[in-house]
Amino acid sequence: MDASFRARALAYLRFDGDDEAALVRLQPAFARNEERLLDDFYGRVLNDADARAVLRDERMVDSLRESLRHWARSLLEPPYDDAYVQKRARIGQRHVQVGLPQRFMPLAMNAMRIHLHRVAIEVEGADHDRLLRAIGAIDKLLDFELTVMLETYAADWGARLVRTERLATIGQLAAGVSHELKNPIGVVNTSLLLLKQRLPQDVSVAIQKPVERITRAARHAADLCTQLLEFARTKEPRLQRVALEELFADAIAHVDRPETVTIVTSIEPKEASAVLDAADISRALTNLLRNAVTAIIDTERAGTIRLHAESTDELVVFTIADDGPGIPLELQTQIFEPLFTTRSNGVGLGLALCRDIATAHGGSIDVHSDPGHGATFTLRLPQRA
Ligand code: HEM
Repeated sequence: MDASFRARALAYLRFDGDDEAALVRLQPAFARNEERLLDDFYGRVLNDADARAVLRDERMVDSLRESLRHWARSLLEPPYDDAYVQKRARIGQRHVQVGLPQRFMPLAMNAMRIHLHRVAIEVEGADHDRLLRAIGAIDKLLDFELTVMLETYAADWGARLVRTERLATIGQLAAGVSHELKNPIGVVNTSLLLLKQRLPQDVSVAIQKPVERITRAARHAADLCTQLLEFARTKEPRLQRVALEELFADAIAHVDRPETVTIVTSIEPKEASAVLDAADISRALTNLLRNAVTAIIDTERAGTIRLHAESTDELVVFTIADDGPGIPLELQTQIFEPLFTTRSNGVGLGLALCRDIATAHGGSIDVHSDPGHGATFTLRLPQRA
C-alpha cells in the first residue's frame, strides 16, 4: 500500500478534525459496551457455517476475540496516521491467510456500524446536530477501515492467485516429466536387482557402497515421481461409507516403523463409520503417520503416536499426535505449502496433498505444536449422510 493511500482515502471521505473530535466523545460509552459488541460479532460468525469454518480450533476463537478487542479499543483513538494504517493493513493479509471469504468483511463491518450508531445515540441522542456529526464520523471511519482491509486483502489474494497458477503450471509440467521418468527409473531398479543377484557374495565394499547409494537414489526418485503424480491428479472424492477403524488399519499397514515407535489408536464411538473417499483419506493419514514416525526417529528416543478419530453429528475429526520435537512456530503456517520441506531427502508434497484432500472433502487440516512437546495434526471433515 503506497504512502499517499491514507491521505487520499481520508480526503475523499472528507474526514476532518471535527470528525476526530466527535469520535473521541464516544470513547467512554464505546468502552462500556465492548463485551456487547464482541458477543454480537461472535454470535453472527458462529451462526454462519462458512464464517465458523474459518475458526479451525478453540485457539483461533480466543485469538480472534482478543484481536477484535484490540481493534475496537484503538478504533476511536486518533491520530489515524500511517502507523495506524500499517497495523490495519495486516488484518486483510491475515484474513487471506486464514481463508476468510471477502464478503465477511463488509458483512461484519455492518454489525460494527449498527453497534457504533447505538453508542452515538446513547451519547448524543439529545442533540440532533451532534448526533448527525457523530454518525457521519462513524460511517467515514468504518468505510476507511473497510477500504484498507479490502485493499490489502485484494493485494494478498492476487499474489496468492499468481502463486497458485504458477504452481498449477509447474505441477502439470512436473507430472508430465514424472510420468516419462517412471519408465527409466523402473529400468534402473530392475537392472539393480539383476546386478545384485549376479554380484558375488564376497563383493568388495568399494562396489557394495555405490550400489546401495544407487538403490537409495532410485527409490527417492521413484517416490518423488509418485508423489508428484498424486499431487497433480485432481479428482472429485469418490464417496463411500467406511469404518474409521479400517482407515487406521490401512494407514498403519503402509508405514514402516522401528519398535521404538508405539502407535495407540482410539475411535469415538468405537464402531463409527463415515462417508468419504477411503483411498484419499487413508493416503492423508498415511502421510501424517509417516511424518510423525520420522519426527520421533529424529529424537533418537522411543516415542508414541496417538491416532484418534471422533465422529459427531456434524464432523469427523482425525487427530494424529506425536511426542517428537514439535514444529517451530514460524514454520507452522508454511508446512502445508507445496514443495516446502525441512528434510534434505524430502519432497515437500505430503502435507500439501493432505490439505488438498481435506479441501476436496470440504474440510480442513491444521497443526498445533508447542516446540519441544510434539505436534498434533487435526483433519476435520464434514459429516455426510
Ligand atoms: C469488521 C470485521 C473484522 C475486523 C475488524 C477484523 C479484525 C481482525 C484483526 C485485527 C485480526 C488480527 C490481525 C493481525 O494478525 O494483526 C483478525 C484476524 C482474524 N480474523 Fe478478523 N476481523 C473482521 C472480520 C472477521 C470475520 C467475520 C471473521 C470470521 C471468522 C474473522 C476471522 C479472523 C480470523 C480467524 C483471524 C485470525 C486469528 C487472529 O489472528 O486473531 N474476521 N481480524
